[in-house]
Amino acid sequence: MEQVIGPFTQIVTFKQTALKGPLQASDMGIVEDAGVRVDSGVIVEVGPFERLVKNKASPQVMEISGSHVLMPGLVDCHTHMVWAGSRAADFERRNSGLSYQEILASGGGILDTVKWVGQATKGNLKEDLHQRILRHQSDGVTTQEIKSGYGLDAENELKMLEVIHEVNREVKVDLIPTFLGAHVCPKGYERADYLDYLLAEVAPKAKLLADRADAFIEAEAFPVHLAKPYLMAMKNLGFDLTLHADQFSSGGAALAILMGAKSADHLEATTSKDIALFGTSNTVAVVLPGASLGLGMAFAPTRALLNAGACLAIASDWNPGSAPNGDLLAQCGILAAHQKLTTAETFSGITFRAAHALGLTDRGRLASQYLFDAIAFPTHDYREILYQQGTLKPDMLWKKGDLLIKSTN
Ligand code: NIG
Ligand code: FE
Repeated sequence: MEQVIGPFTQIVTFKQTALKGPLQASDMGIVEDAGVRVDSGVIVEVGPFERLVKNKASPQVMEISGSHVLMPGLVDCHTHMVWAGSRAADFERRNSGLSYQEILASGGGILDTVKWVGQATKGNLKEDLHQRILRHQSDGVTTQEIKSGYGLDAENELKMLEVIHEVNREVKVDLIPTFLGAHVCPKGYERADYLDYLLAEVAPKAKLLADRADAFIEAEAFPVHLAKPYLMAMKNLGFDLTLHADQFSSGGAALAILMGAKSADHLEATTSKDIALFGTSNTVAVVLPGASLGLGMAFAPTRALLNAGACLAIASDWNPGSAPNGDLLAQCGILAAHQKLTTAETFSGITFRAAHALGLTDRGRLASQYLFDAIAFPTHDYREILYQQGTLKPDMLWKKGDLLIKSTN
């Protein structure tokens, strides 16, 4: 059944906005006093509201009252939203002088979360994931990637992926699973042996639940020389690659680009030589301001990546260790101020460019044939959204045409 929804004071369409490089407000494809014609969850047309409702074959109209800005639903292309327990003690330890890597090397950090995920039932993990998805939804997220990586053995890695699959069937928003068996090496293994174990015992089963594979490339996790043969084998198994790259030291981003990975994520320590590589590569540069905030580190060189011509996405990295904040729009408002990003660049990084990092071509823009995944903010000016740094929340959210949030305040 066709529906016309509107009028919206502004619709940020990103109809023909470039996939790579710097952007200005004039690139956003903003239309004013406009509406959307939707059929079976897919956009038929975005155009002047008056014309859409006067159309002879006039369908059902959902009238929007008050000023509103409509934009594509947010795509969070890097999260670790399945976990158990809290790492508040790590936050305090780091703020007293210990580093993230020192905590990990002493057998804590990620390995604590691995212990608690091992103790949790699928039911516990699902319940917590449902709550986090609801919070993300109220912040405007309609598609989120979620990684395993707190299992580190066949039983628990598959348990995490099953949790993502089952919850994906129970919610309307989309969850995209990624296998992160190569997060860190569990106790009792040599790293090369652990990677062999993953390839032989876990990856073939994980492939039934996830099309994407990730690895944490870092001296304390998996250095380039160990990760490279593992990643080549994962590619041969049919996984798309994405990497935790250049968080503390460089090497991972160059490896991601060399391997033709969909994305290289983090990039706080990326060198100017590697920044330049993103300009000529199809690998998406994903920056994670939530991790910089959680660890008290500098932001990734986002401005420089855009200037180099990168396809730049921004994700929350929501996890209990480095990035417990989870509020993608708040992080974007802060990152934009620090890295001098235009609203066009920032919003692109959490809509169609983030969708591209996930290989999704059906969302992230509001134009004919795209899914009607959209959020409306109670304001007349799109600039208010980042300016308010996460405190202005969407009061309406549609997923594949279904209205999931309509708040009256
Ligand atoms: O993206 N650095 C590696 N992995 C995650 C953090 C995981 C954790 O600390 O629990 C990240 O920052
Ligand atoms: Fe991460």
